[in-house]
Amino acid sequence: MSAEIQFQALPELSLYVHLPWCIRKCPYCDFNSHERTQPIAETAYIDALINDLEQSLPLVWGRPVISVFIGGGTPSLFAPQAIARMLSEIRARLPLVPDAEITMEANPGTFELDRFVGYREAGVNRLSLGVQSFSDAMLGRLGRVHNADQAGLALGSALKIFDRVNADLMFGLPGQRLSDLEQELDRLLSFPLAHVSLYQLTLEPNTLFAARPPQGLPNDDCLAEMQTLVTERLAQSGLKRYEVSAYAAAGQQCQHNLNYWTFGDYLGIGAGAHGKISLAQRIFRTVKTRNPDAYLSAKGAAFKESEVGVHDLGFEFMLNALRLVEGVPIGRWAQTAGMAIGAHPFLLERLGSAQSKGLMVRRPDRFQATARGLELLNDLQAIFLP
Ligand SMILES: C[S@@+](CC[C@H](N)C(=O)[O-])C[C@H]1O[C@@H](n2cnc3c(N)ncnc32)[C@H](O)[C@@H]1O
Ligand code: SF4
Repeated sequence: MSAEIQFQALPELSLYVHLPWCIRKCPYCDFNSHERTQPIAETAYIDALINDLEQSLPLVWGRPVISVFIGGGTPSLFAPQAIARMLSEIRARLPLVPDAEITMEANPGTFELDRFVGYREAGVNRLSLGVQSFSDAMLGRLGRVHNADQAGLALGSALKIFDRVNADLMFGLPGQRLSDLEQELDRLLSFPLAHVSLYQLTLEPNTLFAARPPQGLPNDDCLAEMQTLVTERLAQSGLKRYEVSAYAAAGQQCQHNLNYWTFGDYLGIGAGAHGKISLAQRIFRTVKTRNPDAYLSAKGAAFKESEVGVHDLGFEFMLNALRLVEGVPIGRWAQTAGMAIGAHPFLLERLGSAQSKGLMVRRPDRFQATARGLELLNDLQAIFLP
């Protein structure tokens, strides 16, 4: 068997839209997000997004789109009318499936009832709210623009307005003890949530926190206890961990992120947006101009493309699939890599190695990390590096 990509059918396709501005840059954040220093040029940016989409259309002609994710930055800085125009322009150019999941990220610091209602009327059917913490002291240390009451108000209102809501919470925060996290979880679970994301704070390079780490960060033992507390406490409330940081009630998993984690395709539009696209005989990644001003000047036109070579495919697939607690069916490899497992130069050999180290489950039907593999995910993923 030769190691060549050849698709019979292409994987599912999603759309990611990046809106890059925030009220203020948080000291821990390495996303392509920029403090708004003047009123956002909403109309010009959405024109650029649409131009960007039009340039990309030949890559995905005729393919249905299963989900849209409007991320940032803080997309809720954009007026509902701007989001409505953006979504109708997208619908005019891409065939969204009838029940397409359309998620938008929002920051409680931008909450207004009318705005949230406006986003729903624009077609957003899932809201993801960056709560981060219910403690004013922690929110202050995280440099957030909102307090705990605002977070609670925004979350309560979002749950009334949208059928599907996710709340982001961070843990492992400066000065946080296990008992503090318990209180955070109690408060979080006092809301009728069917999806939550719990992120352990990481010090990302090129952030203020990396340059000057905050005092009182929990040690590794405490972090491990925190992760166990999170998983158990959420499970007791019916929110099952299905990915490293994501927890959901039955049937409420995020379809957009699941498509990433199962190595599906996605078009990325907006400043710095990444995409991954399969054609009949190749898979490649795209990245758009990162700086918002440069993106606006180029009207969204410029992007770079890089091939995912056959040798990289094993790693790229496992980088995503092994994040899922239940892993993925073996058949997903052929669907998304366009080749048989045995045709890959070293996938089978590395699988054997991961299994013999106890990091992957020995199952004939799934690629799945063991509990230990999930704990040591970086080491496990590295086994598949070319
Ligand atoms: C792009 S932000 C989206 C929401 C919105 N911008 C906000 O912050 O409210 C995605 C989420 O990633 C998490 N996050 C960002 N930086 C992180 C870091 N360094 N460590 C852990 N989680 C982080 C936060 O929970 C954040 O809500
Ligand atoms: S609001 Fe969100 S995207 Fe913006 S800087 Fe803070 S964490 Fe990053």
